[in-house]
Amino acid sequence: APQYPRYTRAEVAQHRTPNDRVWVTHGSDVFDVTDFVELHPGGPDKILLAAGGALEPFWALYAVHGQPHVLELLREYKVGEL
Ligand code: HEM
Repeated sequence: APQYPRYTRAEVAQHRTPNDRVWVTHGSDVFDVTDFVELHPGGPDKILLAAGGALEPFWALYAVHGQPHVLELLREYKVGEL
């Protein structure tokens, strides 16, 4: 398995805008989804609400994300681990 760099939640929180890159976490995985923001079916504004932090509180409200194809898509953007 590939080795990913480790980041703290504080480091992830520094990536909240497309200019600073948009990072999110899911479980203990870290993703740079900057290039997906404009492609998000739910719109850029919604995805940016989770920027710099965990996806789970938002995805709990929008069950559309609980499908295998969404996690497969997310996995392509993985850059690190907590
Ligand atoms: C829809 C991915 C974050 C709200 C979707 C869909 C994908 C996706 C693939 C389409 C699913 C389908 O129809 O089968 C992602 C990814 C995210 C993310 C990869 C983070 C990296 C968020 C956040 C919110 C959100 C944080 C809300 C605050 C929505 C909504 C839809 C949606 C409302 C439904 C859009 C519609 O069908 O009209 N998302 N999402 N998403 N997402 Fe996200």
